[in-house]
Amino acid sequence: MTTVVCRCEDLTEEDIVEAIEEGYDELETLKRHLRLGMGPCQGKACLLLARRILRRETGKDVEEMKEPTARPPSRPVPFSLLASPDEGGEDDD
Ligand code: FES
Repeated sequence: MTTVVCRCEDLTEEDIVEAIEEGYDELETLKRHLRLGMGPCQGKACLLLARRILRRETGKDVEEMKEPTARPPSRPVPFSLLASPDEGGEDDD
């Protein structure tokens, strides 16, 4: 049976265990290698499960695990908005 850990990035428990066996044995390296926690929910649904898998596979204490670097999701901005001096500026009087 396949257990999905990160629904946003379509990662299974097997994917995470394989990555840990390859040496990606911290949350930050798992994030960089698999994009774990980089989906729209920003890890709200998967980082806790990933911590448990890491603890089980490596024996590391959950308290020792560093939080992965959080970056807010960005929104695309049309180039026309950046190129137009008449819109979005603070000097509009
Ligand atoms: S479930 Fe992993 S980032 Fe959303």
